[in-house]
Amino acid sequence: MAMKFAYWLLVIAGAAAGVYVDEPLLYDTFPPDFIWAAATSAHQIEGGWDADGKGLNIWDVYTTNSSVVLDGSTGQTACNSYYFYQKDVNALQSLGVSHYRFSISWARVLPNGIGEVNQPGVDYYKRLIAALKAANIEPMVTLYHWDLPQALEDMGGWLNPSIADWFEEYARLCYTEFGNDVKIWITINEPWVVAYQGYGSGINAPGKYGPGTYTYQSGHNLILAHARAYRLYESEFKPTQQGKAGITLNINWYDPKDNQTSSQEAAERAMQFLGGWFANPIFGDGGYPAVMRQKVDEKSAAQGYNPSRLPVFTAEEKLLVQGSSDFFGLNYYTGSLTIEKIQDISIVDYGADQDIEASYDPAWYGSGSGWLKITPFGMRNTLKWIRDRFNNPDIIVTENGFSDNAGNLDDLMRVYYYKHNINNVLKAIKTDGVKVIGYAAWSLMDNYEWGSGYTQKFGIFSVDFATADLNRTVKASGRYYAQLIRDNGFTVDQPCNNYPIY
Ligand code: BGC
Repeated sequence: MAMKFAYWLLVIAGAAAGVYVDEPLLYDTFPPDFIWAAATSAHQIEGGWDADGKGLNIWDVYTTNSSVVLDGSTGQTACNSYYFYQKDVNALQSLGVSHYRFSISWARVLPNGIGEVNQPGVDYYKRLIAALKAANIEPMVTLYHWDLPQALEDMGGWLNPSIADWFEEYARLCYTEFGNDVKIWITINEPWVVAYQGYGSGINAPGKYGPGTYTYQSGHNLILAHARAYRLYESEFKPTQQGKAGITLNINWYDPKDNQTSSQEAAERAMQFLGGWFANPIFGDGGYPAVMRQKVDEKSAAQGYNPSRLPVFTAEEKLLVQGSSDFFGLNYYTGSLTIEKIQDISIVDYGADQDIEASYDPAWYGSGSGWLKITPFGMRNTLKWIRDRFNNPDIIVTENGFSDNAGNLDDLMRVYYYKHNINNVLKAIKTDGVKVIGYAAWSLMDNYEWGSGYTQKFGIFSVDFATADLNRTVKASGRYYAQLIRDNGFTVDQPCNNYPIY
């Protein structure tokens, strides 16, 4: 009792000083049909980079320059899931998940991105889906997780407006071949990363540099391509296949650093530039967020850009885009603190356009990735932010996870991360009325972490990269997640949940 009282004093003192401490866990269960999943993506796990007629994708080509990846590695073998997919299915089965979120490699099924179909590539996904079904696991399939066929990049990639046609053709193939077995489709994973890191800062493939121009142009084409793939599903496949299609956005939480109005506005502005950029056209009023419109238009004019660097949707495009998602896919990882910082007007950059400065509270636990701090309160705040701005949509948390560099099986920090983040999802559902219908842990297993190669490990299974068998071994976090799924929530008697302080 004394301890409990002391704890509450700490919470109150902490809140007053702007310090973040754990809140007591909510012991309750998730709704009965809640989707429990683990996630991966094609390029990060499949390997088989040139197997059976697969075409090259932009990551295959980009990483031939080893200096762009921290450890100089490639995804040529990765977890070799192209051959070892049954090991993945076995791992998933041992977790007890209801769904597996994976992505299709566009260049594996259409080596040139459009045109000729590569049947062995199609057959691979049929085998994977059949193995999942045999294990009683439903596929949740992403069409695009960053691995554009190089042949399309050679024609301008996401900067070429024709990509909406190319993406629709690819989507049609996938719905036709796999749609009888796939009831949840995700068109595009994290268009923000594609636009800003692929074509803006250039730290991801294809490594194009246009931080204040290409960023918005590719972002615009990503939204239109998504909408075309959604409308195709809606009109031609949904009536018979009866599934859902949506998009996944990465939104991390921006907290105001202090109580100043300018900091609160800066935090909201940062949320709009990150999440609203894609969410407002699709889930909101059909255009870019007002604050983004204003900032980029003003800066463009001052910098001599006419028209604005931020494109405008035509009335017809608005109709296509608005409402083009059956659920809101959210990838949430971390949070930061925000103040206003007016940037030098000569800087032409999506980052500078926001006039903010973000930082981390040094008290927050870190991870194996510089950008990833443990801020579970941000999960709940982000979910409420989506609820309030986009008319309380169904949400699937399509990614949430934690990295370390050691890759140890006794990964207690990851247990802590999942426990508190998932508990905040539960609070959002039970206390705040947010309609979260599913959750996917990133990632099923350690894999190719893009520009960080194999140095940052997100798996709840480890992969033995030292041997050709690449065996998967469950970590403590995988055991914890499996127990949580069995309980469909939080029980006091789960050893990892039961701290004396609570
Ligand atoms: C991406 C994953 C990536 C993860 C961790 C997400 O943004 O969708 O592909 O591995 O973050 O960085």
